[in-house]
Amino acid sequence: MTWTKDSWKNFPIKQQPHYEDQEELKRVLARLEKLPPLIFAGEVRNLKERLKLVNQKKAFLLQGGDCAESFENFGAVNIRDMFKLFLQMAIVLTFAGGAPVVKIGRVAGQFAKPRSSDFEELDGKSLPSYRGDIINGFEFDEGARRADAKRMLEAYYQSATSLNLLRAFAKGGLADLHQVHRWNLGFLKKAELGKKFEELSEKITQALDFMQACGISSKNTPTLRETSIYTSHEALLLPYEEALTRVDSMSGELYDCSAHMLWIGERTRGIDEAHVHFLSGVQNPIGVKIGPNASALDIIKLANILNPNNEEGRLNIIIRMGAEKIKQNLPKIFKEIQKEGLNIIYSTDPMHGNTVKAGKYKTREFNDIMSEVSSFFEIAMAENIYPGGVHLEMTGQDVTECLGGSFGLTEEGLQSRYETQCDPRLNADQALELAFLIADLVKKARAC
Ligand code: PEP
Ligand code: CO
Repeated sequence: MTWTKDSWKNFPIKQQPHYEDQEELKRVLARLEKLPPLIFAGEVRNLKERLKLVNQKKAFLLQGGDCAESFENFGAVNIRDMFKLFLQMAIVLTFAGGAPVVKIGRVAGQFAKPRSSDFEELDGKSLPSYRGDIINGFEFDEGARRADAKRMLEAYYQSATSLNLLRAFAKGGLADLHQVHRWNLGFLKKAELGKKFEELSEKITQALDFMQACGISSKNTPTLRETSIYTSHEALLLPYEEALTRVDSMSGELYDCSAHMLWIGERTRGIDEAHVHFLSGVQNPIGVKIGPNASALDIIKLANILNPNNEEGRLNIIIRMGAEKIKQNLPKIFKEIQKEGLNIIYSTDPMHGNTVKAGKYKTREFNDIMSEVSSFFEIAMAENIYPGGVHLEMTGQDVTECLGGSFGLTEEGLQSRYETQCDPRLNADQALELAFLIADLVKKARAC
């Protein structure tokens, strides 16, 4: 079958909302189709070039951000702190791990959520599940939970303003390496971790002073003062993705211009289904989440459809099995796949296989997260596969959503700042602590 922007409609599809008002849906989509693209195809090509370096073991992929962005918690402070956290983690990975870091946020479009159940029960009442702010509201009431097409426009405009700020931060001075001391987020300063980061910053400052004495400065060397942060989200709500898919006038190729990179979730990655079909037709880098029940053949089939030309920088397989299951299931998969010669970037999402309940809260244990990351690196290295990246749910805010970490967050502590609308995120401390641990693993992986 030939691919068109809307040929996904001929395939079975999962995890979609039902819009009662079809006329309104049409109006919203017609409007979205006329609005400017959120990203430019040239930026996507640049990202692909950077991702090729990951395929070649010359760089490391850091992807992270909110589980779900929200309309309510949207603001400059959240974006700024996330940006600073990204810079901190990237500098730790670059300096201690020795690899340049490709930074991709779960940001500026991460609004649609797959759910394990269509309905949510509370106090004897049953309502449609919350599916992310682009679809319906988080509050547990009938009106909020109705799918509302107009939310797509709000998500679009919020993405545009987020991107505007991210681009300004990336090129406007905040990312200058001379600012490294200022990337520290207030609440880190007291802790041991803050000290560790300060020591690293000090070394960087010394190196910069030396370079300055040799005539290399931010003024004459843009790479010292600028960075690039790319955007990504799960391409779940296909009417929205279709409306933002455009022909690039320079290359004549099709790009999904809602984000630089898109991924397909564990629940919607069926090879004969709409999501895989849709993303097979656009040129963006594509991620696919792979859970504990997948086989090597599933991944091979996905690679054949999504990356038929075996292009480097195109396909990212994101392993998310859980701390225990990864040990049982991944070695066999990597052994079988290794022989195929496929250009795949493998990264680890140590979040989604490690979600547990603690009272009324969904949470994750820092130790499980770290254990899955370590296993991923070990298993990959044993099969001569490059463990090329991590995919995290994290925030620059001082939230209390995941257990453990160097401050030993306890179950009792969860309630104090549990703010996520969906899955529990690492707070800035926990994310930075993880970055230090991962940096050691990256160094080993690149050496072998
Ligand atoms: C997610 O990344 O938020 C998500 C739902 O992941 P998965 O598809 O791996 O469950
Ligand atoms: Co999530």
